[in-house]
Formats: sequence, C-alpha cells, structure tokens
Amino acid sequence: MQIGVPRERKTLEKRVAITPDGAKKLISLGHPVCIESGAGVGSSFSDDDYRSAGCTILNSLADVWNRAELLVKVKEPDDSEFALFRPSLVLFDFLHLASLPKVAQALLDKKVTAFAYETLRSTDGRLPLLEPMSEVAGKLSILNGAFYLLSQNGGRGVLMGGAAGAPPARVVVVGAGIAGHAACASAVGLGANVTIVDINKDKLAAIEKEFGHRVTTVISTPDSLRDACRGADLLIGAVLIPGAATPRIITREMIRSLGERAVFVDISIDQGGCAETSKPTNLDNPVYEVDGVIHYGVCNMPAQTPRTSTMALAAATLPYIIKLATEGPVKATQSPEMRHALTCKDGELTNELTAQALSRALS
Ligand SMILES: NC(=O)c1ccc[n+]([C@@H]2O[C@H](COP(=O)([O-])OP(=O)(O)OC[C@H]3O[C@@H](n4cnc5c(N)ncnc54)[C@H](O)[C@@H]3O)[C@@H](O)[C@H]2O)c1
Repeated sequence: MQIGVPRERKTLEKRVAITPDGAKKLISLGHPVCIESGAGVGSSFSDDDYRSAGCTILNSLADVWNRAELLVKVKEPDDSEFALFRPSLVLFDFLHLASLPKVAQALLDKKVTAFAYETLRSTDGRLPLLEPMSEVAGKLSILNGAFYLLSQNGGRGVLMGGAAGAPPARVVVVGAGIAGHAACASAVGLGANVTIVDINKDKLAAIEKEFGHRVTTVISTPDSLRDACRGADLLIGAVLIPGAATPRIITREMIRSLGERAVFVDISIDQGGCAETSKPTNLDNPVYEVDGVIHYGVCNMPAQTPRTSTMALAAATLPYIIKLATEGPVKATQSPEMRHALTCKDGELTNELTAQALSRALS
C-alpha cells in the first residue's frame, strides 16, 4: 500500500507520524512511503534522512494526500485537509471525533475509512497508541502547571517542593490512568503534596503500592472531589471514558474553591474536557482565566517535546501501520484491536461510544 505522511497543520505541532527508521522498515516490506517536505524538521528529522531511508519527498500537502492509499498523521485533519478526503482513502491518526463534530462530518461525507489511534485497544484492555502520549502529557502537565504557578506567569507564587519552613504545593490529580500516573510521579518527584482521585480502586491500590505515604488516594465521588479541590494549588484533569466525550465531573464551584491564581491543567481537553469551565486552547495562547483560576487546555501538549513524542508515538504505531498496509483495512479490521480503532467507514460511524457522543451534534 502507498503510505503518505503530511506535515502537521495544528498550531506549533511539530511531531511527525513516521520516523526515517520506521519508513525504512515499511519500504523494506514493499510499502512505498511519500512524505511532505519539512514534515520531520520539527522533530529533528531532515528531508535527507527520509530520502536516505528510501522515501519520496513531495512538495505539497495535496500531493501527499492524493498519492496516499494509507495516510498516516499525528493529529486530526485540519479544515484545510477536508477537501482532500476521498472514499478510497484509509486514514490512521488521533481523531478524537467525540469532541470534533466538524471533522467527523467531513470524514462521513467523503466516506473515508478512518482508524483512530486513541481507541485502538489491545486484548488486555490497554490503549497502546494513547499510552505514550498520555505519559508525555502527564509529565508535561506538572511542568506546565509549575510554570503557571510562578508569580510572573500569573500564578500564586508557590514552589512545587516548598522550602524549609514553607509547605510544598498541594497538587490534585483526577484520573489515575496513564496520564494521571505520570503526573503523580512527576509531582512527587518535585516534592509536592499529591492527592489522586479515581473511580477505579485497583488503580488507586497500584498508586498506593508504588508511592506509599507520599500520595493520598481517594475514590472519586462528587463529594470527595469537592473536598480534594478546595484550596489546591494545582489541579490536573486526566479522566477518560475511551471513545466517549469526557464527563464534566469538575464543577465551576470546585474550580472556584481552588482559590485565586491556582492553576488547572485539563489534559482530558482533547476529548472535551473534564470541568464545566474547560475549553480547548492552543500552544501559542495556552491559558485563560475563570473565577481567578488559570486554565490550561492545550489539546496537543506532547507537541512541546516533538523529538521525544515522535519517537515514543512512532514506535507504538509502527506495528499497526505495518498491519494495515500489509493486510489492508478489511482484513486488518478482523482483529479485535483494529476493530476498536475503526471509527468511520462507508459514511457511518462504527465506534459505538463515538457515535453516541456525536448523535446530537450530527443529527
Ligand atoms: N491534551 C493532550 O495533549 C493529551 C495528550 C495525551 C492524552 N490526553 C488525554 O488524557 C486523558 C487521559 O488519558 P489516559 O491515557 O490517562 O486514560 P486512562 O484510560 O489511562 O485513564 C483515565 C482514568 O480516568 C478514570 N476515570 C473515569 N471516570 C472518572 C471519574 N468520574 N473520576 C475519576 N476518575 C475517572 C479512569 O478510571 C481511568 O483510570 C484522555 O482524555 C486522553 O485523550 C490528552
């Protein structure tokens, strides 16, 4: 299958879907790879690196989309790419359609066969293509949060690890999955006082076992969330119901209870966000304020570390790109993992939770 890799269009998005090593592997298996000129530069991969791997370098976005049978990218297509959709195309990338009805409608109208990274589920229930980026976003959420807590950045001037005679920052992480765990580990590493909240007792037990008395674990209910939020310096949202829009479990009152110049980083914003006050932002203007609380809602946080993120993501996606290219979309979908990833086909939404989330927006 001819594989195409465009340069990402989202603001300051510098990741690329396939590394030169990955391209070399695909080409050795008989799948030619074309890539838009400059697509890898932000991740420190030059056109020459791709050329040496055997790729064809194309100068325009349209050339890549038109030539590709299997188009692989990182983030959901940009408006400027909708016109390039066509029925014979197979698309494989992060889609997050539950919160992006415009993208969903465009894919359905053009009958694109689209597989989403974030819903690809392994037989043991893991989300192997979301995991690497959730780990990166979780780690970054603490760095970004700590940055906005600095007084010159608008925050309340609290240092994560405190100092002799001054208590550490109080960090609350909602969701103890991959992103929440990574945020928790980073916050503990910086010496913060950390509380983590989840509905899943097993996940909390694993956190308890790993971090012991350095982290407080709390079962998520509206009351326990309200108590945990009150007065916290940094709140991290890392909740997920795979394929569905994120439940908005953090109320405006809970946000207000953080107090002036606290920081809320909503990692789950790419699926719609977990607070009533959440809204998506971009890397060039990442924060806004509600009730005196700084909100950070960047949907592509891992784009801040494109080299690390590209390498981690491309290592995870490559086996599935090989599977799609080798077997084709119909046979590949017979495997349970790819069946979960299949999101649109023949003008229909094929992922049940995504279809439910979009039913009102698309009717
Ligand atoms: N903004 C970004 O750049 C970026 C990057 C990567 C991932 N993400 C997003 O981060 C989110 C988390 O991803 P993940 O891989 O950690 O998911 P995950 O499935 O590993 O973890 C999600 C956790 O949320 C918990 N949860 C569900 N309902 C809850 C509730 N009511 N209260 C408390 N916890 C609840 C689940 O039990 C689970 O432990 C997703 O929305 C993902 O798309 C965002």
